[in-house]
Amino acid sequence: MIFWKLAPILVMMWHFPVIESAAPIEFRGEVGGNVTIQCAIERRPILFFYFQKGTDFVNGYHASKKIGSNKWANTWMSQDKAVHIYSLNVSHGGDYDCLVKYNDSHEIKKNFIHLSITANFSKPAVTLHPIDDIHWLVTCSSHGGYPSSEMMWNVPESPMVKAVNSSETTDPVTLTFNRSSTVFFNCSGGETKNLSCSVGGVTSDIFSVCTPKDPPGPSPFTPSVIAAICVAVVIAIIFITVLCLRGRKCKKRQRGAATSPGVQLEKADGENEQDALNGDREAA
Ligand SMILES: *[C@@H]1O[C@H](CO)[C@@H](O)[C@H](O)[C@H]1NC(C)=O
Ligand SMILES: *[C@@H]1O[C@H](CO)[C@@H](O)[C@H](O)[C@H]1NC(C)=O
Ligand SMILES: *[C@@H]1O[C@H](CO)[C@@H](O)[C@H](O)[C@H]1NC(C)=O
Ligand SMILES: *[C@@H]1O[C@H](CO)[C@@H](O)[C@H](O)[C@H]1NC(C)=O
Ligand SMILES: *[C@@H]1O[C@H](CO)[C@@H](O)[C@H](O)[C@H]1NC(C)=O
Repeated sequence: MIFWKLAPILVMMWHFPVIESAAPIEFRGEVGGNVTIQCAIERRPILFFYFQKGTDFVNGYHASKKIGSNKWANTWMSQDKAVHIYSLNVSHGGDYDCLVKYNDSHEIKKNFIHLSITANFSKPAVTLHPIDDIHWLVTCSSHGGYPSSEMMWNVPESPMVKAVNSSETTDPVTLTFNRSSTVFFNCSGGETKNLSCSVGGVTSDIFSVCTPKDPPGPSPFTPSVIAAICVAVVIAIIFITVLCLRGRKCKKRQRGAATSPGVQLEKADGENEQDALNGDREAA
């Protein structure tokens, strides 16, 4: 990949007497990681090669002098004059110069390197704060990212959802960013599921808001309880029927019951107002 980027510049330097290359070559590294930087160096004997950040010497080579006592401690140079930087931190990002003096030339050739440093934000932590039955606050926070990035909310766009505040702090040692954002939910519309927040491409767990505090408990009438009641009722009916079949007294009572106002009301279905009143009184 480095050689693909390098090729056009090499060709350019070979055919034209340019001293400074125009566009910097881009490199990327992650905080805590390593990067290998290959300057555009032609394959002819060199007197020296200096890799520096501004006026700060990073690493290099001189054909006749011993140099490097002041090189960056977290760097080393391989045989092919590639500079390896490890334990990257945010302050390593920026512009670098490659200075090369060839034996057969009186010019110093200079080309530019740009190093971008990134750090992944932590997975946003979600904190749910129900204020009361219909008002909730939700905070998402994440730390250790670079460069800075907005906390994004994957929530419905609605007047019931309002951003409250957001904050960004910079860690003074690592120079990475912490991000926090709070959103207010008006729960008049009920529970909302499948929400999330994300920062720098890292997404939180899915969460729900406005979940009822005390969800209605399971009904005491579970299928097995209902089955048991049915069985008991059937047994009782069979038992009463058997008893009734045995005694004539019972048959009389059955006939009597058939003429009671309650039963008549059921059959007549409100035809008789007086009976309906009787029925109401009985129900009360
Ligand atoms: C970075 O380089 C150091 C030393 O060269 C090595 O020990 C380490 O394993 C490397 N880390 C990664 C993530 O490549
Ligand atoms: C944002 O607002 C919430 C609720 O008012 C509060 O708890 C939190 O501390 C605030 N955060 C910042 C960074 O101001
Ligand atoms: C950033 O967040 C981390 C982890 O929560 C915390 O330890 C650190 O103190 C925070 N730094 C700043 C500057 O807020
Ligand atoms: C970054 O690394 C350099 C060494 O290359 C060190 O001097 C500097 O203190 C480090 N900075 C941070 C913010 O860790
Ligand atoms: C929440 O919404 C309801 C119905 O739209 C409204 O009456 C109430 O004032 C709202 N509460 C807040 C704090 O905005």
